[in-house]
Amino acid sequence: MASIEFRYENAMADRVGSDGITRDDLDSKRGAEAVRAFRARVESGEVGFPNLPADKSTANAIVEFADSLRKQIDDVLIVGIGGSALGPYALDVAMRGPHPVQVAHGKSKTNRPRLVVLDNIDPGFIAGALANLNPKRTAVCVIAKSGSTAETISTFLIVREWITKAMKKKARERIIAITGPKKGDLRQIAIEEQYPTFSVPDNIGGRYSVFCPVGLVPAALLGFDIHKMLRGAAKANEAGWSESLSRNQALTSALVHHALDTQHGKHIEVVYAYSSYLWGSAFWYRQLWAESLGKRVDRAGNVVHTGQTPIAALGVTDQHSQSQLYMEGPNDKLITFWEVTKPRVDVKIPKDFKKYDSASYLGGKTMGQLFHAERKATAAALTRVGRPNCLWTLPAVNEETIGYFFQTLEFQTAYAGELYGINAFDQPGVELSKELTYGLMGRKGFEKFAEGLK
Ligand code: PA5
Repeated sequence: MASIEFRYENAMADRVGSDGITRDDLDSKRGAEAVRAFRARVESGEVGFPNLPADKSTANAIVEFADSLRKQIDDVLIVGIGGSALGPYALDVAMRGPHPVQVAHGKSKTNRPRLVVLDNIDPGFIAGALANLNPKRTAVCVIAKSGSTAETISTFLIVREWITKAMKKKARERIIAITGPKKGDLRQIAIEEQYPTFSVPDNIGGRYSVFCPVGLVPAALLGFDIHKMLRGAAKANEAGWSESLSRNQALTSALVHHALDTQHGKHIEVVYAYSSYLWGSAFWYRQLWAESLGKRVDRAGNVVHTGQTPIAALGVTDQHSQSQLYMEGPNDKLITFWEVTKPRVDVKIPKDFKKYDSASYLGGKTMGQLFHAERKATAAALTRVGRPNCLWTLPAVNEETIGYFFQTLEFQTAYAGELYGINAFDQPGVELSKELTYGLMGRKGFEKFAEGLK
């Protein structure tokens, strides 16, 4: 696999002035301490995502299961939200392009089965999606680590009724439950109904779950090579455990992000994905960075209110929507470009209308050349006006590079958590609105939360 590169010279003070970082900001001693602290969490079993690439037996079981089902289905319907939906969605967009313009991938001759993700609970969206699917040709992946998320359980009840009406008893062969290993109502329901079931290990949080059954079961059903993904992720582990900044890009990137946020006021990170194939990945990363680092207290209990706000932007589209703000608005952003060196296919621009200046210089070049030039020009323009920016370059988008890239970004997030001194693996801030929703919807035991709200 050609290598994935992280470059940050355009974030340095000698390029962008005092808004940039210096060599002193990249404290290798602090970096090494972050590696050791995180290694201790993994060795104690508190955090598990670095162990996932080695779990070949789960991957083999998933491939066997998916191969037996794929010919019977046209669509894979995910019922899940947050970390239980964004990973599989990102993998699908990476392998086959953005919805609904998707292409066949790998050995497949078609872009079927399609992926449909029912994460939002807008009733019009749910009704519309089900009206467009054939229940007799759909596999339903109901995904909830906790087994009790209101959005997932409510949608599951609707989808179960829909598929059962059409498939009767056979529906249970088409509903796949992906949930926590022991506890949770979804696990109990899956046992009662005898659904095929895969487990989310206890020490894998939703946003770190893309390489456990949460991401792998849908990916295998869609026909992607999950062994290659895990191979890429395993390679990222090799680099990700190094204490040397020159070898460990995840660690370097965490230090760059942390220094820009805490020392140079770059409280926002714009992920500028110059690839439609990486658009789903930008949304997956947005959750990873936001939910992991946005914390009220540090590990010692001090109120700290940490976190860099991630924004997903699409190059070149958002050059005509957001770039004006990034160039001339508040200098409170780090712009992180994601670029793919080799597009899946390139398209030649016809040499027509040569007498017109706006067309003649383009004719004979390729869209890939223009795409690359625009990314480079945007970065250069930002650098010239003192806006720090960095760059991840992927040689291509495929199972192996995506495996490597996602795992590297998870390591980066874990290391950033250590640098901020916060717990990057919990999400206490989302509990209150859940409890208030339960109160408003009449869930037993939550009555007091509805007081004053109805
Ligand atoms: O990253 C996380 O832990 C969350 O975003 C969860 O994935 C999300 O809240 C859904 O949880 P569950 O899988 O229990 O339905």
